Amino acid sequence: MKIVVNGVARTLEVDPQMPLLWALRDHLGVLGPKYGCGVGACGACTVWIGGAPARSCVTALEDVDAPVTTIEGLPAALGAQDLTAVQQAWIDEQVPQCGYCQSGQIMAAAALLRDDPAPSDAAIDEAMSNLCRCGTYPRIRAAIRRAAA
Ligand code: FES
Repeated sequence: MKIVVNGVARTLEVDPQMPLLWALRDHLGVLGPKYGCGVGACGACTVWIGGAPARSCVTALEDVDAPVTTIEGLPAALGAQDLTAVQQAWIDEQVPQCGYCQSGQIMAAAALLRDDPAPSDAAIDEAMSNLCRCGTYPRIRAAIRRAAA
């Protein structure tokens, strides 16, 4: 299997039906995407495939048909030197509590703001379906609004 992750072509000798999340974490050492539910419900494993948010725990490697971007590659993907505006807003709003779900949250938020730089509250609610057991939702929305400002 050949996939491009964060701009680098990678080759994997694994079952083509292996979930992308397993390939990233266990075989490529890309640890930003997290395992939460494993059934596509929580969003902790969110990455971009061809720029679109995708839940990598339920995406088979053989179905990955475009370059993959994880939180590690987000600045480069958005042309940022260091942190993206979204990531800086996350710091400024002190969003994370335990932090486990936050890379997935940021990948979802970054895609929203790339496509809609000034999203309405309804657009934010629609785009941000990732779960957070710490309940950081108000700070997540504050950070999105800050990054959009
Ligand atoms: Fe993939 Fe929960 S771990 S959606």
